[in-house]
Amino acid sequence: MTKEIKKIGVLTSGGDAPGMNAAIRAVVRACSSHGIECLGIYEGYKGLIEDNMIPLYARSVANTINKGGTFLRSARCLEFIEPEGRVKAYENIKKNNIDALVVIGGDGSFTGAQKLSKEHNFQVVGIPGTIDNDICGTDYTIGYDTALNTVVEAVDKIRDTASSHNRLFLVEVMGRDAGDIALNAGIGAGAEEILIPEIENLGIDRLMHSLDTSRESGKTSSIVIVAEGNTGMNILEMRDYVCKHRPDYDVRVSVLGHMQRGGAPSCADRVLACKLGVKAVDALLEGQTNVMIGVSHRQAVCVDFSVALSKERELDKELLRVADITSL
Ligand code: F6P
Repeated sequence: MTKEIKKIGVLTSGGDAPGMNAAIRAVVRACSSHGIECLGIYEGYKGLIEDNMIPLYARSVANTINKGGTFLRSARCLEFIEPEGRVKAYENIKKNNIDALVVIGGDGSFTGAQKLSKEHNFQVVGIPGTIDNDICGTDYTIGYDTALNTVVEAVDKIRDTASSHNRLFLVEVMGRDAGDIALNAGIGAGAEEILIPEIENLGIDRLMHSLDTSRESGKTSSIVIVAEGNTGMNILEMRDYVCKHRPDYDVRVSVLGHMQRGGAPSCADRVLACKLGVKAVDALLEGQTNVMIGVSHRQAVCVDFSVALSKERELDKELLRVADITSL
């Protein structure tokens, strides 16, 4: 498959994440440093299908490292899920003389990249960009650290009003099917209880037990972080259940929603994005394909897409213990 690379395409796909701009910038500048052309593709795979692209130079990405969102914009492209959509995309790849592609996104984006690569014998690498941190083979995804800090800042504010009114707040955070944001932001924000989809027994019974022990230990207000994934009940059902069974609690619900995806990227996300963007271009030039560029023990590493997309991520059990102890 390897041939001389003269032009690399880069796109952002799926849910946007803070640090995606920094990753695009790193890819563009890595291309410049190797004397390779770079084409930015708008709106993810949709831009490939619709031939919506722009040449990017080192100066085109000035003043982008500090910006949230993605200036190439993103999309979840249904047409690309079908083989016919990928044929159209590949025709535009050939038309624009793109020799290889960098896909910045999450698991859905990598699944598409993997298919494109296999069906058309085309060189593709991925960079994990999602706030969810739900990809195997990388310690962190770009955007996760910023989202954690956003959640902690929001919960700190909620805590002010919760303690002023002796209230119980159920705060829903993003993460699709992963509890990483909930667990880590929950510990960081000092939550009394954290409900995540990975652990079945962290459900409503545990919450009720924890509310009772909190009361006994003299707590007057409580913050409970609820991951948006399946924790047995959705957050409104949870509120109704608590109100019915513990009527002495004054319960409020706060769904943080898409504000978790916005904002300027943290320094950690910017550095991660730069590291992975540079390595992505190196990897393509070395002839790598069908791999994600992840980070492991501070080193950028190539991880086969099949590993990145496997569902074998292990929950950090020690964090559960830490959460239990520090919320006493
Ligand atoms: O994957 C990132 C994410 O923000 C998830 O945490 C969330 O479940 C989902 O995207 C929301 O997607 P949308 O922006 O399409 O509503």
